[in-house]
Amino acid sequence: MYGKRILLGITGGIAAYKIAYLIRILKKQEAEVKCIMTPASSAFISPLVVSTLSKNQVGIEFWDKNTGVWNNHVAYAEWADVFLIAPATMNTIGKMANGLCENLLLATYFSMKGRTIVAPAMDLDMYKHPSFLRNIETLTNDGVTVIPAEDGELASGLEGEGRLAEPEMIASFLAAFMSAAQPVSEKRICITAGPTHEALDPVRYISNHSSGKMGFSIAKAALLRGYEVVLICGPTEETLLHPLFTRIDVVSADEMLTAVKRIWQTCDLGVFSAAVADFRPAIIADVKMKKKEQTTSIQLEQNPDILKWASFERQNNQKVVGFALETNNEKENALLKLEQKNLDFVVLNSTQDKGATFGGEQNKVTIFGKDGELVELELQNKFDIAVKLMDIIENVNA
Ligand code: PMT
Repeated sequence: MYGKRILLGITGGIAAYKIAYLIRILKKQEAEVKCIMTPASSAFISPLVVSTLSKNQVGIEFWDKNTGVWNNHVAYAEWADVFLIAPATMNTIGKMANGLCENLLLATYFSMKGRTIVAPAMDLDMYKHPSFLRNIETLTNDGVTVIPAEDGELASGLEGEGRLAEPEMIASFLAAFMSAAQPVSEKRICITAGPTHEALDPVRYISNHSSGKMGFSIAKAALLRGYEVVLICGPTEETLLHPLFTRIDVVSADEMLTAVKRIWQTCDLGVFSAAVADFRPAIIADVKMKKKEQTTSIQLEQNPDILKWASFERQNNQKVVGFALETNNEKENALLKLEQKNLDFVVLNSTQDKGATFGGEQNKVTIFGKDGELVELELQNKFDIAVKLMDIIENVNA
């Protein structure tokens, strides 16, 4: 981030307190940081803190009554390589989407020549409100990039989506955004993510612990590179809003295969990170199985291998990347998958690695190419892994 000029817009929400940490991370990464605050935000974080950490004066009003200095929104917009608005409240997003220009921050947004990123933060009902979703769609159509809010405990005491993404996550998103190569545009990627649920009866299923986070991170990294993304996911809580992003929700492996078959020939690249159940119950009971039926064994049959299907049906130089989730003989098993499934790359992750694989924010992977090359990535954020994976795939495509 050395020398990158980050203009940080802070709006009036409780998550504004996190911005102090974000500024510190960006400064440590040697970015130049200037901040604009809405008047409402100074109730949540002191301009003195923002100014001290960013080592720059903070713009709040068009005209600073104390110094007589006019804060020129055009000068801010011309200075910035990127304008990051975090936290972005429902109010500010609504005004950005509807051309309302009542403060310095909004005037600067409407004057930007470079890219703008918003990181929304609000209560969960607002975050799902049709009006918010409409405004976000308008902003993405206007070329604004959205860092989705996270799920978790909210200041209101409610639990759900709407928390500002963590400062580390925003900083790594920003770094990837700034360093992304020129968009490869007009390329389409198919990604599978999450678990599959294989029904046993109307209320029970066989599945695994996949959260979908790895696949959604790959989707975010691909969007940053200008790919159009089609993500086919099993049941997951993850969300993502972007104009180049299509999500197809499925439940079972069979449904996932049907969805992949429908779009595969329109894609240039496939990254198959889903934890597809290898087996499904041979018979799905029509009604809930009763305890008294004394069913102590379930007959299973094999699910179709979606990755293998896509790999052997490829045309026109399509690239195929698979994952291997192993508990033992990791390298051997991963290389076997690379060969048997005819892959360009296999991404190995092992349940032996603490803090990696299912559910969490981090993963630790080794990427093997079909020509024997190998890249080992330390335990890190799934998004950072996704960015590096896309780099590796792109280099081979070049
Ligand atoms: O979702 P998270 O909580 O973020 O966790 C991420 C992850 C651990 C699920 C992910 O990193 C991962 O390892 N995904 C692959 C899990 C898996 O099913 O591995 P596998 O070794 O069993 O399968 C090998 C490959 O074949 C995978 O690309 C898989 O998507 C694919 N496959 C497997 C079986 C099947 N019937 N169809 C498939 O397409």
